[in-house]
Amino acid sequence: VSPFMEQIIFFHDHTLIILIMITILVGYLMINLFFNKYINRFLLEGQMIELIWTIIPTITLIFIALPSLRLLYLLDELNNPLITLKSIGHQWYWNYEYSDFNNIEFDSYMINYEKSNINNFRLLDVDNRIILPMNNQIRIMVTATDVIHSWTIPSLGVKIDANPGRLNQTNLFINRPGIFFGQCSEICGANHSFMPIMIESISFKNFINWINNYS
Ligand code: CUA
Repeated sequence: VSPFMEQIIFFHDHTLIILIMITILVGYLMINLFFNKYINRFLLEGQMIELIWTIIPTITLIFIALPSLRLLYLLDELNNPLITLKSIGHQWYWNYEYSDFNNIEFDSYMINYEKSNINNFRLLDVDNRIILPMNNQIRIMVTATDVIHSWTIPSLGVKIDANPGRLNQTNLFINRPGIFFGQCSEICGANHSFMPIMIESISFKNFINWINNYS
């Protein structure tokens, strides 16, 4: 649901097609080895074939490496963000700060599905969701207080480590309204699996409304 994730999917498909072509070629050659009777008792070297089967894989790898580098630098680009969200990893919950707006700050804990009486998403729902406006550039600042965590939201193409003593930066652009889930993805201790991330993407007007009414 973000332009970055679209690009990542395109790159995955592109690489997978190259991988399938290689697998088919090599598979065909290996199967053929079993069914031919070619014998050459005096074969010691073949300069030309060595040259060919060195150059061809090199060119193939360039076709993967160049789009990969393009994507890598594209994901790092920050284009005039509208708001900044600071996300701090703790053992074992996230803390969020909206420093642009009156220093809104809150903890975000997972909801216990079994003990909660409202219907929610098991192991993914949190008590305080991140509210963000859709169709806007958002800067994310990520850090941690105790051990390394990782702020990861697959559907938005975001995965960035939260290191103590270091401030990492990434950015978000959400295409549509909805609820998007993420989980910590650095093994950070006993409750590593229980510090989910939940983003509620809403219209800009409703976002301003939420900011104004936050108490
Ligand atoms: Cu925090 Cu794993």
